[in-house]
Amino acid sequence: MRIYEKLSAHSQEIRATHLRKLFDEDLDRFKKFHAEFDGFLLDYSKNNITTKTMDLLYELANESHLKEAINNMFSGQKINTTENRAVLHIALRNRDNHPIYVDGQDVMPEINRVLNQMKTFSDAVRNGTWVGATGKKITDVVNIGIGGSDLGPAMASEALTYYRTDNIRFHFVSNVDGTDITEHLKQCQPETTLFIISSKTFTTQETITNALTARQWLVQALGQNAVEKHFVAVSTNTKAVAEFGINPGNMFVFWDFVGGRYSMWSAIGLSLMIGIGYDNFIQMLEGAFAMDNHFRTAPFNQNLPVIMGLLGIWYTTYLGAESYAVLPYDQYLSKLPLYLQQLDMESNGKSVKKNGKNVDYKTGPILFGAAGTNGQHSFYQLIHQGTHIIPADFIAPIYSLNETGQQHDILLANFIAQPEALMKGKTPDELRQEGVTEDLIPFKTFDGNRPSNTLLIEKITPWTLGALIALYEHKVFVQGVIWNVNSFDQFGVELGKQLAKNILPELFDKNKKLKHDSSTNALIEKIRIKRHG
Ligand code: F6P
Repeated sequence: MRIYEKLSAHSQEIRATHLRKLFDEDLDRFKKFHAEFDGFLLDYSKNNITTKTMDLLYELANESHLKEAINNMFSGQKINTTENRAVLHIALRNRDNHPIYVDGQDVMPEINRVLNQMKTFSDAVRNGTWVGATGKKITDVVNIGIGGSDLGPAMASEALTYYRTDNIRFHFVSNVDGTDITEHLKQCQPETTLFIISSKTFTTQETITNALTARQWLVQALGQNAVEKHFVAVSTNTKAVAEFGINPGNMFVFWDFVGGRYSMWSAIGLSLMIGIGYDNFIQMLEGAFAMDNHFRTAPFNQNLPVIMGLLGIWYTTYLGAESYAVLPYDQYLSKLPLYLQQLDMESNGKSVKKNGKNVDYKTGPILFGAAGTNGQHSFYQLIHQGTHIIPADFIAPIYSLNETGQQHDILLANFIAQPEALMKGKTPDELRQEGVTEDLIPFKTFDGNRPSNTLLIEKITPWTLGALIALYEHKVFVQGVIWNVNSFDQFGVELGKQLAKNILPELFDKNKKLKHDSSTNALIEKIRIKRHG
């Protein structure tokens, strides 16, 4: 029997087995199903698995040549086959600086050069030696970017607020909705504002449009010559940056072997480095590097990204789960679900295998989440009593950075209670013992048997954040390898972009004949009459 058939057959046994029973029958279940790494504890015992499940999943990983795929990524092979690119976000945090070659060239000297350039610049902005055109210190840094050029620094900047300088405010403008930039500019003064235009391609419509608005705002107040002191760029496209009018000396490069959603470790993290300082940024890289080494070397049955990746495959492909929740019990991680949405869904939201043939199984899940306990008072109802299986990751630090009153113990009590409740549920008999009347029993019954991982970390620090993000990056990688999809392209985003470019001129020209479907034609007509007569 092939491994897929073995897993399918086994999934029938597991569907018929309640987690509560598995815990009752095996008092050592936690011991068997947990793994640790440098202050991280992954408890995966509350999943619908047995030892046999995990053995089969490890067999699947071996048959999918996961080990070889990991080595290929780390050694700079061009594993992004549709774009013929290496995938080397790991080189950005290669802290022992061993050479990594792409087309025969070691990428490390260039990576280190840009890191030093970032250090010099961020130090100067932080200590006030970089001043605006009128000689004033920078008080506001505005990162303009979208997708991977926004979500990484925005998420990490929020996550590491505790470590950020109080002297500078940080803004992240991404949406092409004019409200986004307008509301941020209201909080800034031209003389003391620094714009970081972050765009891998430097052609993204949203980013360039917002950057032009920012430039106009600045030039109106301080004149054209001020641009040099108030605009820097992060991009792979030197030519387009120069054409925009940004001094190439104020440009921080990265490379096509860094995917947008994997780029927070590169100069895309410049706003973050200004916020937390060079040393903390390096700590974040160190944490990611430690996770990289763990991923590369730990046996699969002790390897956090491998275990989490395989469990995701189990639910999506074999147990019919459509979605997946990430539930951080730490306010600083409130943007983590948004960040992981792009990481996971843009990477593995694919239905074509690497050989160009369609898949005949489910791939990447729909990811959502919110910081606990807020989520408990909104969508958890559906996780507890709805008709979908939603595997969830519960994440919390043991120590809060703000140990005020009883809050953190209450937060942790919730963090522990939820996975337990999802696993156990509540039976009609238990309800009767509590005195619940018969008419309410069906409504108050919880089936339980709902899976979750619990990830406990010591504390939110730059190091732990780096390791946590690298953990999820590698989890997504494991799944891409097993689903045999290219996790590093994103052609799906292109169609919408092209169509919007075609529609834009149609919104202005009422004589232009519309050739869309009747719905699209009617919407364009309505809007153009209202807006442009
Ligand atoms: O959304 C598609 C995408 O290409 C993302 O992958 C990328 O992070 C984002 O657009 C922004 O692209 P750029 O950095 O080139 O402006």
